[in-house]
Amino acid sequence: MKLLVTGGAGYIGSHVVKAAQSAGHSCVVVDNLSTGLTSRIDCPALELDLASRDASAQLVQLMREHNFDSVIHLAARKQVGESVQKPEEYFLDNLGGLANLLLAMREVGLKSLVFSSSAATYGMPDVDKVTEDYPGVPINPYGQTKLIGEMMLKNAEVWGLRGVNLRYFNVAGAASQELADTAALNLIPIAINAVKAGKAPVVFGTDYPTPDGSCIRDYVHVEDLALAHLAAVDYLAGANQEFTTFNVGTGVGASVIEVLDALKRASGIDFEVAIGERRAGDPPRLVADVSRIDRVLGFRTKHDLASIVQSAWDAS
Ligand SMILES: NC(=O)c1ccc[n+]([C@@H]2O[C@H](COP(=O)([O-])OP(=O)(O)OC[C@H]3O[C@@H](n4cnc5c(N)ncnc54)[C@H](O)[C@@H]3O)[C@@H](O)[C@H]2O)c1
Repeated sequence: MKLLVTGGAGYIGSHVVKAAQSAGHSCVVVDNLSTGLTSRIDCPALELDLASRDASAQLVQLMREHNFDSVIHLAARKQVGESVQKPEEYFLDNLGGLANLLLAMREVGLKSLVFSSSAATYGMPDVDKVTEDYPGVPINPYGQTKLIGEMMLKNAEVWGLRGVNLRYFNVAGAASQELADTAALNLIPIAINAVKAGKAPVVFGTDYPTPDGSCIRDYVHVEDLALAHLAAVDYLAGANQEFTTFNVGTGVGASVIEVLDALKRASGIDFEVAIGERRAGDPPRLVADVSRIDRVLGFRTKHDLASIVQSAWDAS
């Protein structure tokens, strides 16, 4: 298949491009290079800000040139804290960019779209494992842009769009140093940076109602996540597929303390750990129910926490 990958020069997008090429697909990337790096990809790329005024017209031209089978839309801003400070920029980039993309797809009759959504759409769920039907409410503008983005795909069914929302849980790891996440925004890269700087990584809160008192998350290897996109594209290529939302996680939770223990083993360094106060807006537990993606797409992750942390350490 021929795939248009927006945000393909980013951390996850470049893993998607690599996995797609390995599976025999060809890719064209659209990216404004705000956080993306062309060194991560080996395919044609158009430098374009999807939220810019003439983006839709440029996309139409690109789509007419290439005759794509499907679009994987990853391009977005992703910093939760920044989204609270600059909500308008998040709505403009994440939703304006998606609107321009949908306008162009409608214009050329391109009707297959996989959308990068997030577990941030669930807000603060108080369940053991969160299913896609959980009536969550996002607690920050970033999560709101993802939930509204999902609605935009659903609305586009009116002109025949077939869409899949992939709600990623905590993405980590890397296929190689070149593709590694350069933004230290999540626990694993933040902890690796601290250890490399000779500092103690911080556990924010050890009094949560969890077995060791630290927060529990569902860590998914970026290479597993990349394959979920290909499974979604294949699904959409089938006849009469319905608009669907899938969690992408492992279904297994790991606490902050367990992640740091895994990092001690991966790095071979018995580093100190600092204990900090709870941070606002951190649910004690956020773990995916992955039964729908297993049942509908036949998709299962292969990497466990040790493999995720080892690959992140090796790529750092
Ligand atoms: N990393 C995670 O843990 C995580 C979790 C859930 C969802 N997501 C989503 O996955 C997607 C990819 O995230 P990532 O971690 O690879 O981040 P990233 O910042 O590495 O990648 C985003 C890419 O999109 C590009 N981009 C941003 N705004 C753009 C615009 N207006 N026009 C064109 N290109 C633009 C950037 O240059 C970059 O290459 C995002 O939609 C993000 O919200 C990420």
